[in-house]
Amino acid sequence: MNKATRKAVIAGNWKMNMTPSQATALINEMKPLVAGADCEVVLCVPFVDIPAAIEAAKGSNIRIGAENVHFKASGAYTGEIAADMLKELGVEYVVIGHSERRQYFGETDQTVNLRTLAALNAGLKPIVCVGETLEQRELGYTETLLKFQTKMALTNVTADQLKDVVIAYEPVWAIGTGVTATADQADEGNGFVRAAIAEAYGADVAEAVTVQYGGSMNAKNAAELVAKTNVDGGLIGGASLKAADFSVIVKAASEQK
Ligand code: PGA
Repeated sequence: MNKATRKAVIAGNWKMNMTPSQATALINEMKPLVAGADCEVVLCVPFVDIPAAIEAAKGSNIRIGAENVHFKASGAYTGEIAADMLKELGVEYVVIGHSERRQYFGETDQTVNLRTLAALNAGLKPIVCVGETLEQRELGYTETLLKFQTKMALTNVTADQLKDVVIAYEPVWAIGTGVTATADQADEGNGFVRAAIAEAYGADVAEAVTVQYGGSMNAKNAAELVAKTNVDGGLIGGASLKAADFSVIVKAASEQK
């Protein structure tokens, strides 16, 4: 398997934006623009927007994802959301280990792994985020860090389960900053992620895994990024809040065959 046969996934990450009624309006605007896309189209939305988003996306090619999931099935975890709850609503994907959660909410490589396992066990597809800070890059730790984060996140995930896992390489210094990794940096980072999977599962398994790039991907730079050998789509923050921009990114990925 190679880039031509791997599934490209363009996923929006709305972060803490959009009320339910705004979600409905934005998805209604996006639906005709992304119809017929030759890639998977996903919108990961705030928990409370999920029912409205699922309703608005019905009958379209837009899949709905969440932005986090707790690792326990149920219990005394005030304020948390379990995988079964998301599944029952019709959620298909879930972002796990986003750098904002690592940075502001105490997310660790261990909890990223536990959340990944919980998502898979419930039949959700995790979009697992990994990425180095600027300081780590400047110290020359990018490869070591990406491989470590990838392997930690996938601990106890079977090769069969890996078919449902998407990894997003998101350099922390490129997220929400307007500074995008160059296409070569993105390709290299994604390559490190794929090499880590190959070390753990073998090259054949690694070749089949969708590895996205994320970090200031936008309507202008998407085509160059998704053209790279190791870049199978993207995880898009800011540009996923604008229907026109997001649809240009979806189109760029669709044309990469
Ligand atoms: P950005 O966010 O596109 O706004 O940089 C990407 C992300 O955080 O997933």
